[in-house]
Amino acid sequence: MEKIVQRFLERQDLEKAEFAELVRCAADPESADALRARAMELRRRYYGDKVYTRGLIEFTNYCQNDCYYCGIRRGNRLAVRYRLTKEEILECCREGYALGFRTFVLQGGEDGYYTDGRMEDVIRSVKEAYPDCALTLSVGEKSYESYRRFRQAGADRYLLRHETADDAHYRRLHPASQSPERRRQCLWDLKELGYQVGAGFMVGSPGQTAECLAEDLLFLRRLAPQMVGIGPFLPHHDTIFARERAGSVELTLYLLSVIRILLPKALIPATTALGTADPEGRERGLLAGANVVMPNLSPVGKRKQYELYDNKICTGEEAAECLGCLARRVESVGFRLVSERGDAAM
Ligand code: 5AD
Ligand code: FES
Repeated sequence: MEKIVQRFLERQDLEKAEFAELVRCAADPESADALRARAMELRRRYYGDKVYTRGLIEFTNYCQNDCYYCGIRRGNRLAVRYRLTKEEILECCREGYALGFRTFVLQGGEDGYYTDGRMEDVIRSVKEAYPDCALTLSVGEKSYESYRRFRQAGADRYLLRHETADDAHYRRLHPASQSPERRRQCLWDLKELGYQVGAGFMVGSPGQTAECLAEDLLFLRRLAPQMVGIGPFLPHHDTIFARERAGSVELTLYLLSVIRILLPKALIPATTALGTADPEGRERGLLAGANVVMPNLSPVGKRKQYELYDNKICTGEEAAECLGCLARRVESVGFRLVSERGDAAM
């Protein structure tokens, strides 16, 4: 095993250059095995064999942003746009609740139709109908005041991946109108407002180096979010990154273990992107340290249209089918899917 890996296992206070070195050890099987073993041990200590489920409702694919990697970016004129009404969102929740989901994630692009007032109305309606469920929002960058109103209306958690903590790399992935400082400030704001916060990044996005990933790890250590979502970058055919290479599954798995060790109690999903890049990606993610899965509750007729990257899995399956499939997959690697809110053990 590489020395820096040993050092990280002993204490996690690495500096940037050391984190970069740690990232480079992903190619060493012995190092990867050692990190995976520790990650599994920690995950078991805090969460046993439980895997939490989140019902993902992709309620709008309108977006005012233009992230270069994303299939639903504003500039993609070919994307077929849709948005669900409040009634349709509640219908997804009803179906999800009956299936045992106790967390709903409302995810969408930054859609001007969904003003703060409309969002508050949706949040209140969901929380009133399902007071025993956690509600997670994932609707991008908003003002402190908007986040405050959503929290007041009942939102419990917020997912906002920082995408990359390296400023130059952030600018390579986004137009000048989007700023890395602003992105990170949103996460601090959310934290201050008492949300359980989820950050995260893509692995292998164009221009990413080991130093970028080292910044990501430093940022995660500083922010100490309750949730961390990572998945491989996957090209989308109608973006300027169409011909870029996909991110590595192996490196994603390695980083999942590193993040589990860095933030032992974090809720970490085995993401759809990981399941898309490798047919057994989600199972392998669980074995690397992940403890959450996020099946889709969006209406099957709309699923294909929430296309962030090519070949996204589970776009043709009903929620119940995905849940059954996932339960089997989770059990196949020795874990069990539970029907609980699944708050962070911190
Ligand atoms: N490949 C992988 N992940 C992507 N995301 C967006 N586009 C892609 C892509 N092409 C991720 C981003 C975003 C999350 C909702 O999906 O990290 O935060
Ligand atoms: Fe959706 Fe397997 S999880 S079909």
